Amino acid sequence: MKPGTKRTLVTAALPYANGPIHLGHLAGAYLPADIYCRQQRLTGRDLVFVCGSDEHGVPILLRARKEGVDPQVIVDRYHKMIQEAFASFGMSFDFYGRTTDPLHRETSQDFFRVLAKKKTFTLKTDSQLYDPKAGIFLADRFIRGTCPNCSYEEAYGDQCEKCGRSLSPDDLLNPYSALSDAAPVVKETTHWYLPLGHFQERLTQWIDGHGDWKPNVLGQIQSWLTDGLGDRAVTRDLPWGVPVPQDVAEEAGVDAEGKVLYVWFDAPIGYISATRRWAEAQGDPELWKQFWCSEESQLIHFIGKDNIVFHCLIFPTMLMAHGDFILPDNVPANEFLNLEGEKLSTSRGWAVWLHEYLEEMPADYLRYALAATFPETRDTDFSWKDYQARVNNELADTLGNLVNRTLTFADRYFEGKVPPLSHPSSKDLGLLDRLREIPSRVGELLETYKMREALAEIMGLAREGNRFFNEQKPWATRKEDLRACGNTIHISLQLVASLSILLDPFLPASCASLRAMLNLRGLRNSALREDKEALLFWEDAGRPLLEAGHSLGQAGILFQKVEDAYVEAQRKKLKAAPIQGGSGVQVDPNQVPEFRELIEFEDFQKLDLRVGEVLEAEKVKKSKKLIRCLVDLGREKRQILAGVAESLGPEDLIGKKVIVVANLKARKMLGLESQGMILMAERPDGSLGPLGAEGPAGAVVR
Ligand code: MF3
Ligand code: ZN
Repeated sequence: MKPGTKRTLVTAALPYANGPIHLGHLAGAYLPADIYCRQQRLTGRDLVFVCGSDEHGVPILLRARKEGVDPQVIVDRYHKMIQEAFASFGMSFDFYGRTTDPLHRETSQDFFRVLAKKKTFTLKTDSQLYDPKAGIFLADRFIRGTCPNCSYEEAYGDQCEKCGRSLSPDDLLNPYSALSDAAPVVKETTHWYLPLGHFQERLTQWIDGHGDWKPNVLGQIQSWLTDGLGDRAVTRDLPWGVPVPQDVAEEAGVDAEGKVLYVWFDAPIGYISATRRWAEAQGDPELWKQFWCSEESQLIHFIGKDNIVFHCLIFPTMLMAHGDFILPDNVPANEFLNLEGEKLSTSRGWAVWLHEYLEEMPADYLRYALAATFPETRDTDFSWKDYQARVNNELADTLGNLVNRTLTFADRYFEGKVPPLSHPSSKDLGLLDRLREIPSRVGELLETYKMREALAEIMGLAREGNRFFNEQKPWATRKEDLRACGNTIHISLQLVASLSILLDPFLPASCASLRAMLNLRGLRNSALREDKEALLFWEDAGRPLLEAGHSLGQAGILFQKVEDAYVEAQRKKLKAAPIQGGSGVQVDPNQVPEFRELIEFEDFQKLDLRVGEVLEAEKVKKSKKLIRCLVDLGREKRQILAGVAESLGPEDLIGKKVIVVANLKARKMLGLESQGMILMAERPDGSLGPLGAEGPAGAVVR
């Protein structure tokens, strides 16, 4: 916490509105931010948490072209989807905005105008490749052509995917536009640049004053600063984005037509425009300034590591240049979350989508499993087995069990009331003592972004509670020493009540249910900026909260166990993702099988490989392994049996394009004929996935 501040503004990176939210997003920025905000609100801190959809940028434009719709259609679709998924996940944004909001446009243009007036920008004219048919300038990625190195005809302007050589658009032979196939022409264009170099000294000084930032963040910043900061173009020639303000362009003698602010210029300003919208909704349109323009406020950006340079150097430069705004106090970026041992990849479907997850399972289970493995200092791995173990062993068997046995006992033997604490033993008092120090310790961990440690600390307390219960044996003392038995239940209930506060930032829905079971009222709402009825706050978790004689509510089951079948189904769903090279996860060379003996080229030529499309697929009855597929090979349809049912379901194959050995002699298996073979790739764990293929059915692969 920045000393002397009264308020906090928290932001979470604005997600691009061109796809749904997945686990990587949640673990990187959103869940840590939400946990932080909820805990801070519980302490009574005045805090506003904003986010919103990032709706500009080239990928959205391209997606729209591909679907033949207006970009607005794309962003409307995903904005809605993301916003709904976030809400069901329990994200406690005070405002969730979007960058196509007119107020955002105005805020960004004003910002740009101020920098232009202050002569912050440099104007530069350059020759760039232009697609005369599509009418837009082409980013390197959208120029394709023949690789000078390997003659691959579909190399990109920045890299050849075939031979891996990095290229610049000039290197390509026969360049063409990926958008229209037209040959690009060279055209001059003028753009505004932010000369980061002019700010290098101020930035360095400012960063030097923040030695407390996370080492992974400081490390990245340091390497940027060492390399030296150059000029960054902050405008683009694109038909989608916030238009360059007309007056600024006129002043500079530039035609503003077709020019927009670079998406990374307008997006972070989205934090400001969202706060403005929030203030409007409070009926006090100027309120946002208390958060952005006052030294009594601290600003915190939660992001993933791919956003570090923008939030730690570029946006701060913009804020410095502008002059009216405070700079971030901290940027606690997380590293990446891998999935089942592989790097997440949305393009090949190696991802878990939040909205799909929420159709089947409670948000809190995922919040818990993710928080326990946040990639705070290095990349970590999410696996469904681990998810299951966390839910079953920690939520159900540790926390759920403590709650259940305590409440059931109180219900059965103490008329559903809190028994008094009388002549407590040193063990009883020891646990109350232990409780006293927890809120500030956990609070400190959360304020320094050590969420995993904070969660471990709280769960340690739940474990102690179970140990205490086991050692005190209330089921035995009930018959011999009712007073001691009452003490045990009294203490256990106090512990459970405290846990319902301490865990609230992590498990908001479950903790609300838990408080209902305890009939514990008055805890400050962790999702709202204001809660006038609040009687209990974070620090209160350190003291006994339930008075003797207090009537408890109805006990119930807090956490259900996750079945093996669910885990298997999730893993299968993932493994249906086509296997592709370069997944980015370290391969252990010793795990890769040795190569087989050499064959003659003629032998290879005997193989007839074709692209096939799987039309039908079904499990073969009485077989564990076989899936019967009907595969379209262009000339004819074939029945092919694939021995993959242990890794995949039929639904994972239907509609997929695969590679087929088309001239394999037919074989009979379990009385069925297999007229070919579908090629699969093997993962290190032995499971199989189809190799993705493109092209028309029947196309020759060679
Ligand atoms: N949309 C960007 C991403 O997903 C993040 C934008 S953060 C903001 O990587 F600060 F620019 F808003
Ligand atoms: Zn090449």
